[in-house]
Amino acid sequence: MSNHDKIRQLIEMRAQARLGGGEKRLDAQHQKGKLSARERIELLLDDNSFEEYDMFVTHRTTAFGLDKQLYLGDGVVTGHGTIDGRLVYVFAQDFTVLGGSLSETYAQKICKIMDQAMLVGAPVIGLNDSGGARIQEGVRSLAGYADIFQRNIMASGVIPQLSAILGPCAGGAVYSPALTDFILMADKQSYMFVTGPKVARTVTGENISEEDLGGARIHASKSGVTHFVTENEEEAMQVLRKLLSYLPQNNMEEPPLVANTDPIDRADDALNHIIPENPNQPYDMLDVIHKLVDGDEFLEVQRYYARNMITGFARFNGMSVGIVANQPNYLAGVLDIDASRKAARFVRFCDAFNIPIVTLVDVPGFLPGSGQEYGGIILHGAKLLYAYGEATVPKVTIILRKAYGGAYDVMSSKHLRGDLNYAWPMAEIAVMGPKGAIEVLYNKELAAAANPAERNAILATKEKQYRDELLNPYEAAKYGYIDDIIEPRNSRFRIIRALQTLANKKLSNPPKKHGNIPL
Ligand code: HXC
Repeated sequence: MSNHDKIRQLIEMRAQARLGGGEKRLDAQHQKGKLSARERIELLLDDNSFEEYDMFVTHRTTAFGLDKQLYLGDGVVTGHGTIDGRLVYVFAQDFTVLGGSLSETYAQKICKIMDQAMLVGAPVIGLNDSGGARIQEGVRSLAGYADIFQRNIMASGVIPQLSAILGPCAGGAVYSPALTDFILMADKQSYMFVTGPKVARTVTGENISEEDLGGARIHASKSGVTHFVTENEEEAMQVLRKLLSYLPQNNMEEPPLVANTDPIDRADDALNHIIPENPNQPYDMLDVIHKLVDGDEFLEVQRYYARNMITGFARFNGMSVGIVANQPNYLAGVLDIDASRKAARFVRFCDAFNIPIVTLVDVPGFLPGSGQEYGGIILHGAKLLYAYGEATVPKVTIILRKAYGGAYDVMSSKHLRGDLNYAWPMAEIAVMGPKGAIEVLYNKELAAAANPAERNAILATKEKQYRDELLNPYEAAKYGYIDDIIEPRNSRFRIIRALQTLANKKLSNPPKKHGNIPL
């Protein structure tokens, strides 16, 4: 073969690899409204930045006639590129090749880029669209998945790992994403289940659609498995790019500092009026967040799950922060199992990747009742306590209104090494709300009341006394548990100054193999 022919052969083989499972299957993928693996990578990365690895890899299996189904690249596209000029490693599963199912060699391709990402400290993004372990390969495909899981685990807390689910994903194709930091699902085209509807029907007799068993909306609102839902794949890639913009490349680096044009001393008078006079009336904490952060930009994480708790990324004077906030607009912002789990995981992510945490508190306490107790609120609430208490990143807290009971302690209080803890003048910091407190303290007097009018009069007098004496921020400030009571309109400036002050914070926990968070 002449050199010319050799070059020609290379070009032809590359073209063949780019076709994945062939034109017919690519057309079928497009007809389902889905992009191909390579189209996805193009959309995700900066123009012309992708460098592909292992394009000529093929599987080694002969069982079930697989020796006649050889595809260059073996069903996964791997390599590296840049997002906003920053290095990332990426793999995209190709559903057109044997349903994107994972073989031994396919797993080796993914492991290779994960190893390189760890070597140089860069994020890994997985674009998933796969039927899981390749059935014809038996245990070798299971071993391949386990090799990926082990790398997911070792990379956890070292480099950011992001997963997009863009098609039907089953088995290992959901467990690997579950080990990563963030999961995103494109609506109406992606499913996640350990076993699909057919297996569910056979084993348990349950008749359920793919959408209802593991669709994006289910995982966003019910299970909490996915952190983001997007309308389509284009939006999915934009969200991945945006998410990365808040994150450092690895746990040894700081998040990128972004140029900021929003004045740091922008006072907002509306904040002085945002808390209703009636303490039982809700307001939207998202309004507060949007007024505080740079340029009104907030990337909410797990928006549809445990909506009584808000988590997400924003910037203050260009600095990346994680925001954790109670949402009085939903279940009065109460702490329950789902909210505790959601916030705990987010706090731990921020801490692992050097992202300061700003906590906005308005919480009436933990949700009482057997539903919560039987579900293990003791353990789940303890997760959040643990997460805040072990976090060593800068922690800035503002109590806007209620901070009752254990929830006061949990929400990044001074006692859990909160660095700068502020309160608005409307803050109510106490063991419990006035009604509950008076009913406990004046139980006998209330029972002895001659009639309901007298009972109400006792309640009203004592509640007023309780409000005046205990339900304010000054009691906490008197003991130094609150560093300052601030005017709401100045909150943005105070947060920024706090973060600047804490920029060189050095704090570490005692050496240990690892703690034992109540899982
Ligand atoms: C080999 C597979 C495959 C697999 C799909 N295909 N999954 N081939 N191994 N795991 C093939 C199909 O045979 C088909 O080939 C092509 O891919 C497209 O699949 P369809 O079924 O036609 O597509 P669709 O109707 O969209 O359904 C997609 C699906 C379904 C929901 C993913 O294929 C499915 O349920 N697959 C099995 C899922 C599963 O149980 N995987 C094993 C998981 S165990 P042809 O040639 O006909 O087009 C696992 C263990 C890991 O992963 C360890 C976990 C801890």
